[in-house]
Amino acid sequence: MKSKIQALREDFEARLAAVSVPEALEEMRVFFLGKKGAVTDLLKSLRDLPGEERKEAGQEINSFRDEVEKRLAEAGRRLSEAALAAAIRTAKHYNPTLPRREEKGSYHPITLVQRELEEIFTGMGFTVEDYFEVVNDYQCFESLNIPKHHPARDMQDTYYLENGQLLKTQTSAAQNAIMKKYGVPLRAIFPGRCFRNEATDACHENTFFQMEGMMIDKNISISNLIYFMKTMLSEVFRQPINVRLRPGFFPFTEPGFELDINCLICGGKGCPSCKNSGWLELCPCGMIHPNVLREGGIDPEEYTGFAFGLGLTRLAMMKYGVKDIRDFNSGDLAALSQFVSE
Ligand code: DAH
Repeated sequence: MKSKIQALREDFEARLAAVSVPEALEEMRVFFLGKKGAVTDLLKSLRDLPGEERKEAGQEINSFRDEVEKRLAEAGRRLSEAALAAAIRTAKHYNPTLPRREEKGSYHPITLVQRELEEIFTGMGFTVEDYFEVVNDYQCFESLNIPKHHPARDMQDTYYLENGQLLKTQTSAAQNAIMKKYGVPLRAIFPGRCFRNEATDACHENTFFQMEGMMIDKNISISNLIYFMKTMLSEVFRQPINVRLRPGFFPFTEPGFELDINCLICGGKGCPSCKNSGWLELCPCGMIHPNVLREGGIDPEEYTGFAFGLGLTRLAMMKYGVKDIRDFNSGDLAALSQFVSE
């Protein structure tokens, strides 16, 4: 028996030394440790030995088996490390010896539009505010004059956390906090990522960007709103932009509007892009509802203000002629790296 074990040991060493691929290791495992393997055979043959000898041989076989297991595992680790090192050495896209490429990364088109708007607005005395993506019901709805069960909520289904918080559906969710933080007079913009439970297609995404703006002071009127929007849009599009207001309903405005701009493609004459109307819908806005001002700690008898919720993603689509909104979140560098700031 002793010599059998010794012979198997030598066989194991010889085979192990020759192994260079993981498949061969697996074959060895089956040969030595499998159900019908060499170690099992040895154990079976123990039956024929007398008592004392059987015990001794049994121990020896067991320790051989443990040894085989350990050495096979070690060899497996060594092989996979070597395989990784070889993959890195031969990888087509990774060569650590090449000099660094001169081309730099590029900004996401939405970042470009956002930064441009931030610059325009800071030039007009607005501050740029940051706000959470996870908010609560009060911030997103209640403080904006949208009580529970208000039908306006139907348009803004979103993703809820188990603790009742939610992913904000609109940048308006920051209005209340910013009013409370700064008081009046107030000029602020707050860009942010918004979320809605939407079926996605070329025009709809569950994740998109808006830029909200507010201006609150004594004697702020719709004329101020029109002036700021017109100035901002003319700069963004690098051409004089005409705007028109149509009535729109938002519980947090009174009155509320949809702001349209003259079609950039036909200049207002009418073409397929603007469905022959000469106008494109761009930005919901309005005079801030007295309830919303009051909730933000501002006296609506003394102060008035306008607010707007510009669709940043939509603006980027218009500015850069992007046809499919899903390109923005695709992570596809070929699509996204072609935009450069002017
Ligand atoms: N938060 C609105 C939405 O996402 C857009 C909006 C409308 C924002 C009117 C405003 C506003 O600030 O005054 O649908």
